[in-house]
Amino acid sequence: MAFWANKTVVVAFGGGIAAYKTLELIRLLREQGARVWPVLTASATQFVTPLTVQALAGHPVYQDLFTPQAADGMDHIRLAQEADLLIIAPATANRIAKLASGLADDLLSALALVRRKPIVLAPAMNSGMWQHPATQRNISQLQADGLLLVGPESGALACGEQGVGRMAEAERILEAGRRLLSPKILLGHRILLTAGPTREELDPVRYISNRSSGRMGWAIAQAALRAGAEVTLIHGAVEMAPPWGAEALAVESAQEMYEATLQQWDKWTRPGQQLSCAILTAAVADYRPASRRASKIKKELDGELSLKLTQNPDILLALGERANRLAQKNRARPLLVGFAAETAETEDAAAQLVPLAKEKLARKGCDLLLLNNVLAPGCAFGSLTNQVTLLHRSGQQEIWPLLAKEEIGERLVQTLQNRL
Ligand code: PMT
Repeated sequence: MAFWANKTVVVAFGGGIAAYKTLELIRLLREQGARVWPVLTASATQFVTPLTVQALAGHPVYQDLFTPQAADGMDHIRLAQEADLLIIAPATANRIAKLASGLADDLLSALALVRRKPIVLAPAMNSGMWQHPATQRNISQLQADGLLLVGPESGALACGEQGVGRMAEAERILEAGRRLLSPKILLGHRILLTAGPTREELDPVRYISNRSSGRMGWAIAQAALRAGAEVTLIHGAVEMAPPWGAEALAVESAQEMYEATLQQWDKWTRPGQQLSCAILTAAVADYRPASRRASKIKKELDGELSLKLTQNPDILLALGERANRLAQKNRARPLLVGFAAETAETEDAAAQLVPLAKEKLARKGCDLLLLNNVLAPGCAFGSLTNQVTLLHRSGQQEIWPLLAKEEIGERLVQTLQNRL
């Protein structure tokens, strides 16, 4: 929310059917507190009316290069210089060609030519036009000029064909803008993350799991990506799509998560590679059924069923041992960050959690550990907020207030920047 507050974004519509999605982009930007200055090209007015755009943006629409009614008649210069971000969506093949060749024959092309600050380009067109060598040449040129491309995506196109050419969804364009504007405090760093629950199969139709939604891990991944890090995210079954730009590996069971995480750790700590940090937010099942039945377990006639469980491997513990081995060989030791999900119903019980968490931090070889009491208000599995106490291996302790998980992700990224 706070990120977009007081930021000014020029949202420029090219003339394409995807313009209807740009209306949603304006709505999202305004909802998050941004000021929107809308620009419509002549052909864009064939798809959306200036009145609709003005009403959504809460600001008059700029349409003409020559506006005698403007104080100095130079909207193209003012818009280019004063806005924090320029988003061109949809960017048609014609618009892309104009931008690539530096034409300045209408308001949008003139302001893009003046602008030296960030520009996001969201192409949308028929897949034949997109794949044409001329468009691909122009796109390469614009990327070399520093524009950030978002999309196009594959799917059903307005012309009835299937293929590449759909404009990215409004949320993704918004995220691209945010990434472009965010300080790159983790540029050059690679981060390994686990998130979400694991599922331990009992039979072909049932499993044991927990209520983790993956939100905490997603928020950290998102913050790290915004800060310029490369992110590998190993996650259990969650309802969210992986954050844009993360290398995401989906697993089900604790054993699969263990194998995938160790494999990624080994890959990124090989000589010549550099893993900066591993953050384990996943709620990994400590136990799994000792055996998985091949067919559905039948209801017992006496009304009781006993399950034998066996312990799963501990991923954090295994990484702690690997990290120590690297340090013993005088190799760079990635920072190891664990979480501790504890339950305390009373304040007295909550006071006992820190010593427990400190013991966990030491036993599992962590550098940092975030303790959360998942019974505290606003801290449950699946909630949008959380309250954590950050414990450092040195003994230092920081009590963070109840925050949106997104903000916890940002604070953790800040902490990592200080430590790395
Ligand atoms: O996903 P959300 O709905 O957003 O909820 C977030 C969360 C509550 C899941 C998250 O904030 C959290 O606390 N994650 C850790 C959950 C957990 O398993 O805690 P633990 O105290 O049991 O484990 C301690 C640490 O060891 C954790 O970093 C855990 O990932 C790791 N672990 C545990 C068991 C195991 N077999 N392997 C592990 O790596």
